[in-house]
Amino acid sequence: MQPEDIETITVLGAGTMGHGIAEVAALAGYDVRLRDINEELVEEGYDQIEWSLNKLAEKDRISEDLRDEAVDSVTPVVEMSEAVDETDVVIEAIVENMDIKKDVYEEVSEHCPDHTIFASNTSSLSITELSEATDRPEQFCGMHFFNPPVRMDLVEVIRGEHTDDETMDTIEALAEALDKKPVRVRKDVPGFIVNRILVPLMNEACWIVEEGDATIAEVDSTTKYDIGLPMGAFELGDQVGIDVTYHVLEYMHEVLGEPYEPCPLLEEKVESEDLGRKTGAGFYDYEDGDGAEVP
Ligand code: 3HC
Repeated sequence: MQPEDIETITVLGAGTMGHGIAEVAALAGYDVRLRDINEELVEEGYDQIEWSLNKLAEKDRISEDLRDEAVDSVTPVVEMSEAVDETDVVIEAIVENMDIKKDVYEEVSEHCPDHTIFASNTSSLSITELSEATDRPEQFCGMHFFNPPVRMDLVEVIRGEHTDDETMDTIEALAEALDKKPVRVRKDVPGFIVNRILVPLMNEACWIVEEGDATIAEVDSTTKYDIGLPMGAFELGDQVGIDVTYHVLEYMHEVLGEPYEPCPLLEEKVESEDLGRKTGAGFYDYEDGDGAEVP
């Protein structure tokens, strides 16, 4: 599959990352199918795309014509065969669970044309292991976007043990066509490059607060105003989703060992379902208008 032959992109999973990736693909002029397991989820994702495109148009980041074209090029779908039967690239952004992802890849393999490339937006799981659940491990790689996809320039393109050169080249070229800056990750290691750095930072921030050495506000002030990140460590946790951070850490802890032990503060937030902006509360409260514009 050559980059210039890509016309249709299917995004599996209409959650925070999935709808954001679908939006990016629509803005770049691709025909996009956004698929989730029921009407409600897929419609929610579609509504979030409309919200985001309206916001970008309001701020003159895109024209109103581009907004309308992008909205029109996204088709919400529930039926898997309809989502993938004519697609050129599948970008999977479903829940971070190896077994569930493998089941979905088996199903997708049955319905896709032979030429279709599979790319996983997993935050940390093994690309090699995921690829082995498909009928085309050589046409499989990681394509890791960052939250919010429409605003973040970087995409990690991750080579699994079976990935062939053509797939790496095509997905790298696709990332460029999506107006992103691709970075090749040569080794399929948990957390790849970015999450290997950022997720332990968020975990350490939690340990500092858990042990009573500083408050959330104090830690965020230092990460934002001294270390120079665009958001404080806790603001970032709320942005990416505390559940996402926790699951990446659990996997890094399992594979890479002790230094990555998740802080109990993260586990408590996951148990109480205070997952960040997407649930209206996390380390901060967004219900009272604390910068929380996300619908
Ligand atoms: N679409 C459109 N608009 C959006 C949006 C979206 N998806 N998300 C937020 N906005 C809006 C906000 O509602 C706000 O609107 P308002 O001004 O009307 O209130 C506005 O964008 C804020 O944008 P600004 O440009 O004014 O603000 P910033 O300059 O602070 O930029 C940011 C926002 C780009 C998100 C910046 O804070 C940033 O870069 N944050 C760091 C994010 C980051 O590091 N992400 C990577 C996390 S790691 C990851 O995702 C990997 C995963 O595997 C864990």
